[in-house]
Amino acid sequence: QGDTKKPIRVWCDGCYDMCHFGHANSLRQAKAMGDYLVVGVHSDAEISKHKGPPVFCEEERYKMVRAIKWVDEVVEAAPYVTTPEILDKHGCEFCVHGDDITMTAEGIDTYHIVKSAGRYKECKRTQGVSTTDLVGRMLLMTKTHHKQKYSVSKEETGEIGVDSSTRSPWTGVSQFLPTTQKILQFSAGKEPNPGDRIVYVAGAFDLFHVGHVDFLEIAAAQGDYVIVGLHHDQDVNRYKGANFPIMNLHERVLSVLACKYVSEVVIGAPYAVTADLMDHFKVDVVCHGTTVVMPDTDGESPYAEPLRRGKFKLINSGSGMTTKTIVDRIIAHRLEF
Ligand code: CTP
Ligand code: C5P
Repeated sequence: QGDTKKPIRVWCDGCYDMCHFGHANSLRQAKAMGDYLVVGVHSDAEISKHKGPPVFCEEERYKMVRAIKWVDEVVEAAPYVTTPEILDKHGCEFCVHGDDITMTAEGIDTYHIVKSAGRYKECKRTQGVSTTDLVGRMLLMTKTHHKQKYSVSKEETGEIGVDSSTRSPWTGVSQFLPTTQKILQFSAGKEPNPGDRIVYVAGAFDLFHVGHVDFLEIAAAQGDYVIVGLHHDQDVNRYKGANFPIMNLHERVLSVLACKYVSEVVIGAPYAVTADLMDHFKVDVVCHGTTVVMPDTDGESPYAEPLRRGKFKLINSGSGMTTKTIVDRIIAHRLEF
């Protein structure tokens, strides 16, 4: 008795719709206030009642929150108004929420009870990212969808490497200010151990979603250390088409770093997985999902080198979700959101 301190259990709750790095950052701060983080996620019915239907269904939202590395436990269908009873039921001392007020349909602060019970703590809301903002970027797509052709001239490419946010018509809309501090806070900060099997995957990972989570979970099972190479905005734009990516490179870095299956991220990876890259990271296996592999600018497969080395593996995530699915969902339901 005495010396062994009881672990502090912390409670967070929310909709976590279109789960983004702002949500992840609030969970990171909450976890730092204790030892064990329990996250209550509201059901579709509850959200519809208070603020309108969510973009993602509850099963998708539960999965996304479970994949965030600071989350120890998810409580499904948590009540919209947080009570001391729910905190007690899960052994949590207090709850944590961002410094913005959340209201019920009746206009009542959803945290008023725990606030007066002295069981409420605040974390800093992440500026420049929200579900509303992301939906806005996607709706912006419909307006100029067929008019705007995004292209990059030779003289401009030098600049793109310096600031990836300036070239894409949509990612330039971002209000988020990326800092090295944020990357540091999100990073696992761990190098591979000697003998670790290194898995490398590359992609856009735009609007990080359940398909990515399913894919990364299986990729992580192929080894001990997962490196995700994120393509530059202009590469994503080349192979995904005129309006992509929705999130710029910096935003995609944080989204991917927040995932528990990811050990390290390459910020702007070459489109082709080169011999240099494989040697540098001592890659044992390169994985790709069942989505189409777009050829490089020279017409070759970006996976030619790992294929040559017998170090390429196709993975079936079992998920049909793509960034395009999300955009289509939002455009189809734009009047409801
Ligand atoms: N949150 C945050 N920074 C953001 C967005 C959300 O810190 N940019 C925090 C909220 O303060 C809350 C938690 O994430 O503590 C869960 O938020 P949620 O209920 O899902 O909704 P919103 O606050 O409405 O987030 P959004 O506007 O992005 O939907
Ligand atoms: O499309 P994107 O580049 O973001 O995909 C990153 C990786 O995730 C790719 O290997 C892709 O095949 C995989 N993926 C998947 N299942 C999905 C969506 C993506 O396996 N539903």
